[in-house]
Amino acid sequence: MIDPFKRTWWMPGWGEIALSSLIWALVSGMLLVPGFNAHHDPFQSVSRLISVDAFGYFLHSFHSYSGDIFLIAAFVHTIEYLIKRTHRSYLFKQWFYLILLMIVSILAVFSGFLSIGSKESASALHIFDGILQTVPVIGGQLSLFFIQLTRNINPFSVIYLHHAATFTILTVILTYVHIKRLKAERYALLYTGFLLALLALILPASLGHPADAVVSVVKGPWYFIGLQEMLSWMPVFVAGIAFPLIIIGLLAWLPQLKSKDRPVLYAIAVLLIFYLMESVIGWFLRGEGWQIFGR
Ligand code: HEM
Repeated sequence: MIDPFKRTWWMPGWGEIALSSLIWALVSGMLLVPGFNAHHDPFQSVSRLISVDAFGYFLHSFHSYSGDIFLIAAFVHTIEYLIKRTHRSYLFKQWFYLILLMIVSILAVFSGFLSIGSKESASALHIFDGILQTVPVIGGQLSLFFIQLTRNINPFSVIYLHHAATFTILTVILTYVHIKRLKAERYALLYTGFLLALLALILPASLGHPADAVVSVVKGPWYFIGLQEMLSWMPVFVAGIAFPLIIIGLLAWLPQLKSKDRPVLYAIAVLLIFYLMESVIGWFLRGEGWQIFGR
């Protein structure tokens, strides 16, 4: 049988692509720092950066795609793990670190999007804050820590700090714990770098709309639209907290089940397919005011 995950001469393994994208994200992120002003008007600073010279636009797109490819490659790599039943040989502690890595990876990419201060990121930041607030007992504290909407501090600079520091550092540490190295294979690094550069050149990444723009519908990044769709018809706590917690709980349970893991794997697959369907509805069918077929 053909193994879709097997590395070939024309493509490195998905794990190597994820690691390479992370390295490219770190490099391009650091190059973006001097031109980015999270404290005043982050959107204005990125707009200036991408309009001043072609390299600025390239850098912004390159960094943005490095986050996307990192998430996609890490996701496919995780599915590969689950299909090959790798979890059966894991100790709970190692598996727990892997699940943490999955969570902070998503937060690292998402917080990058939240930092840029566009209409889309402001709306996603508001949604993120609303979700945090529904966490019993510590919701207010979480919101204060990640966003600080209530104090006199620009929320974009707080989330940017978490993007470039907290989540990035945790992602790097947990990646090291997972594979005991932070150096990608040279072939995979060049392959991914070439792919990212090509994407950045032929398909410059969108920056979204300025915060004061009037738009009929505001959609977040591709991995967030499913959640936006769920929030349009489910209680915030169910969509934003319970749903991800159920997936995390099922994943965490896997190593204990050993060979009796089939029903849990099916349950995870059903939840992921459900999320995919919600994303397709949100992406293609929602328009003005988040109405079905709205224009
Ligand atoms: C040294 C660590 C990092 C620094 C200093 C940094 C810096 C930045 C800056 C300044 C921005 C806003 C400017 C722009 O988008 O052009 C940004 C956005 C972003 N970052 Fe990072 N970053 C770092 C790590 C990462 C990592 C590890 C990832 C993902 C693996 C990532 C993914 C993103 C994404 C997806 C965006 C949003 C881009 C967009 O949608 O326009 N960053 N980052």
